[in-house]
Amino acid sequence: MPNRLQPICPIESRLPPPDPEQIPLRTLQFKRALLHELRKGNATKEQIRLHNLVQQLPRAIIIGVRKGGTRALLEMLNLHPAVVKASQEIHFFDNDQNYGRGIDWYREKMPFSFPHQITIEKSPAYFITEEVPERIFKMNSSIKLLIIVREPTTRAVSDYTQVLEGKERKNKTYHKFEKLAVDSGTCEVNTKYKAVRTSIYTKHLERWLKYFPVEQFHIVDGDRLITDPLPELQLVERFLELPSRISRYNLYFNATRGFYCLRFNIVFNKCLAGSKGRIHPEVDPSVVTKLQRFFHPFNQKFYQITGRTFNWP
Ligand code: A3P
Repeated sequence: MPNRLQPICPIESRLPPPDPEQIPLRTLQFKRALLHELRKGNATKEQIRLHNLVQQLPRAIIIGVRKGGTRALLEMLNLHPAVVKASQEIHFFDNDQNYGRGIDWYREKMPFSFPHQITIEKSPAYFITEEVPERIFKMNSSIKLLIIVREPTTRAVSDYTQVLEGKERKNKTYHKFEKLAVDSGTCEVNTKYKAVRTSIYTKHLERWLKYFPVEQFHIVDGDRLITDPLPELQLVERFLELPSRISRYNLYFNATRGFYCLRFNIVFNKCLAGSKGRIHPEVDPSVVTKLQRFFHPFNQKFYQITGRTFNWP
């Protein structure tokens, strides 16, 4: 019985990492199946050594924004044969206890990969947590940082919807969005409400810019990732200096789900979990307008800093 984990070309993986343009993609596709097997926890030390597998620190991180489409972006990038995703949110840099466990703990949370692949993780809390930029800078000052954003009011409602669903699951009651987003005393937008604060993208980005130059960030349009993901993914491939490999074949629109789903190959495809793409509650249009007016100047600043403009109101 042949060993399914036996590589076709074991010698190749011991060669120095090739230029990304030179990555033999057929080999990588085969190796992806191998990595999938290993991820199930079936790998022995011997197999890891034989295949020259490593747990690498991420070379790119999706730092946010919560509800921007961070999971969809990670899963879609993982279609690329040179990308390996950390499946779970690791919360290394935003959680003091995890951070205290040290960089080796973080590395051990990473999936096995081949040396010429790049590992990507996503933890959306990184974007809004004060200590994170400095901590990531200390790990790797040239890391590539991805931020996926959506129209700020929609994102805030999405954020609210997620929390609301959690409360309902526990049979708890919760305030209406309007009550949380607008201060009933002043009738102004309530900037103490976290879902509002998170959508002030420029404020958070400015903290990051104290450590990293703007060229190290790539802004992904989360609204376009929903309606037409491929062009957004191609921009990310370019930013990550990867050859363009994600194609229309890899993404198909699933009418039942109402979203694009992922096709890895003829047998394996998947849609994101049902918790992605929730129906939002209706929000009083006057509150929507108030929020849109509130975010407007912050959005202008965000466009100016990042060089990426959106048609947000
Ligand atoms: P909604 O639930 O508001 O629709 P995150 O992964 O950062 O929590 O983002 C969740 C959002 O990803 C969802 O917000 C959904 O709209 C969006 N999304 C983008 N592409 C998607 C896809 N292909 N499948 C499901 N959700 C997707």
